Amino acid sequence: MKMIQIILFFLALISYTSNAIDSDDFCVADLSFPDTPSGYPCKSENNVTADDFVFSGLNIAANTSTNSFKVAFTTVKVDKIPGLNGLGISVARIDLGFNGSVPMHTHPGVGEFIIVIQGQMTAGFITPKKVFMKTLNPGDVWVFPTGLLHFILNTGPGNAVAYSAYASSNFNTHLTDFLLFGNNLSTSTVQKTTFVDPAQIMKLKVNFGGSG
Ligand SMILES: *[C@@H]1O[C@H](CO)[C@@H](O)[C@H](O)[C@H]1NC(C)=O
Ligand SMILES: *[C@@H]1O[C@H](CO)[C@@H](O)[C@H](O)[C@H]1NC(C)=O
Ligand SMILES: *[C@@H]1O[C@H](CO)[C@@H](O)[C@H](O)[C@H]1NC(C)=O
Ligand SMILES: *[C@@H]1O[C@H](CO)[C@@H](O)[C@H](O)[C@H]1NC(C)=O
Repeated sequence: MKMIQIILFFLALISYTSNAIDSDDFCVADLSFPDTPSGYPCKSENNVTADDFVFSGLNIAANTSTNSFKVAFTTVKVDKIPGLNGLGISVARIDLGFNGSVPMHTHPGVGEFIIVIQGQMTAGFITPKKVFMKTLNPGDVWVFPTGLLHFILNTGPGNAVAYSAYASSNFNTHLTDFLLFGNNLSTSTVQKTTFVDPAQIMKLKVNFGGSG
């Protein structure tokens, strides 16, 4: 009888400790597995360290001379901070060279805001009824509603910098220029669906790496 009580006591203790180890406080991504629609599987809390919650370097300006839009993104998603897994948030730094722009794009299903840190930007988004745009200066925060097409222009006299935040830990970006002109969708299909002149389509395909 006494032996059974001792065994039950230890079983209860083991169950209590394993619950304490598999805490629900967080689910840090195990990046050795593929991402899924509900995020990465959690790594064992024994293997989680403070480094899983940190990224350094968003103070560093990225090179904006590598593309004709003169834009550079330093994006910090769950692949950079495994602790973002399941939190539905992430962050980026946007550097815009003089006269640069973030071309028209959407993040399907994901809202975003930007905080301007340096220079002057004009940010906007488009609905079927209206264009919403605003000139922004350091300290200004601007919101891009979930899923809408949006853009940013550097309208200041020098470089511009913003930090952006996203309502997803692993969002996608669909750039309209590349969707239309950066793949092998045939020129005649692009023409039929946009009424853009075929010569102009072929010129844009060269610009954005498309063919056909
Ligand atoms: C977690 O750590 C243990 C040892 O501490 C190790 O055997 C195991 O492979 C690690 N798991 C992962 C997913 O890294
Ligand atoms: C920025 O990128 C351009 C084009 O690739 C390159 O020529 C230039 O050296 C780079 N600048 C720096 C500071 O890395
Ligand atoms: C700004 O960029 C646009 C589009 O690339 C270009 O047509 C224009 O000449 C540029 N303006 C200046 C001042 O560089
Ligand atoms: C486009 O490229 C894909 C492979 O990336 C190929 O399977 C497809 O047949 C191509 N379509 C056309 C219209 O060339």
